Amino acid sequence: MNPMKGKLYGVSIGPGDPGMITRRAWELLQSGAHWTYPVKSEKSDSFVLDIVRRSELPLPENHTALIFPMTHDKEKLARYWLRAAEAVIEIVQQREDVLFLVEGDASSYSTFGHLARTITALDSEIEIVTIAGVSSFNLAAANLKMSLAETDDALAIIPASYGVKMFDRLLTEFDTLVLLKVNPILDQLLDLLEEHKLLAESAFIERAGTPEERTVHDLARLRGEKVGYLSLLIVRNHHRVRGPRIRGCRKATIQHS
Ligand SMILES: C[S@@+](CC[C@H](N)C(=O)[O-])C[C@H]1O[C@@H](n2cnc3c(N)ncnc32)[C@H](O)[C@@H]1O
Repeated sequence: MNPMKGKLYGVSIGPGDPGMITRRAWELLQSGAHWTYPVKSEKSDSFVLDIVRRSELPLPENHTALIFPMTHDKEKLARYWLRAAEAVIEIVQQREDVLFLVEGDASSYSTFGHLARTITALDSEIEIVTIAGVSSFNLAAANLKMSLAETDDALAIIPASYGVKMFDRLLTEFDTLVLLKVNPILDQLLDLLEEHKLLAESAFIERAGTPEERTVHDLARLRGEKVGYLSLLIVRNHHRVRGPRIRGCRKATIQHS
């Protein structure tokens, strides 16, 4: 790595509650590094920046919004990732460290992965560090008073963008489903949960950790409602029939030679 250049840090800020910012992220935020953060367009606000603002840390002098449009157009996305990567490279070349603030955890469905890969492709000498954090589904489980997984439970975290078709297969293989990005197909998911008698075992959360957080356990209430992008469902699949489990994996036996 090149000591003549600054580093890029992907800093997990947690899903909405400033109290979920880790101590490591907190130190970096106050280190004098240049802050960058994603926005959907030049005119839109940054959700992650709003989380930090609510922590009452002042915005540093050096900060830059990076545009990541909400689109599935791969070419358009690649153009914006390149533009963002070039902006970051310009700063680290001046020996400044750059923080890229990430909503939730930086390794879970985050733009940071795309940004980091694009930067490495342009300049492999730039050191990139990921600061782990609290994901939306960790906070969601806690605030919904649900457990994500216990003992031998199999847990799946999946964006609902796969559609409802794979639902049956997931129900045979997993004890808990965390469904992200549910907003476009919420009614279809509710139908499926009802069909599989899982409505009572499931819960919904929107804008977890923010002052607008909404938790819903009586999911039938959500029918026909337009919910926001920052929402997810946790499904506890109590009807799952499990296959045999390997005893040695449940209680490790130490072999002495
Ligand atoms: C692109 S993913 C980002 C995931 C994020 N990096 C994390 O660690 O949770 C966006 C999806 O995460 C979920 N999500 C993120 N923040 C949330 C929040 N505060 N409340 C509820 N769901 C959230 C929603 O399902 C949303 O559609």
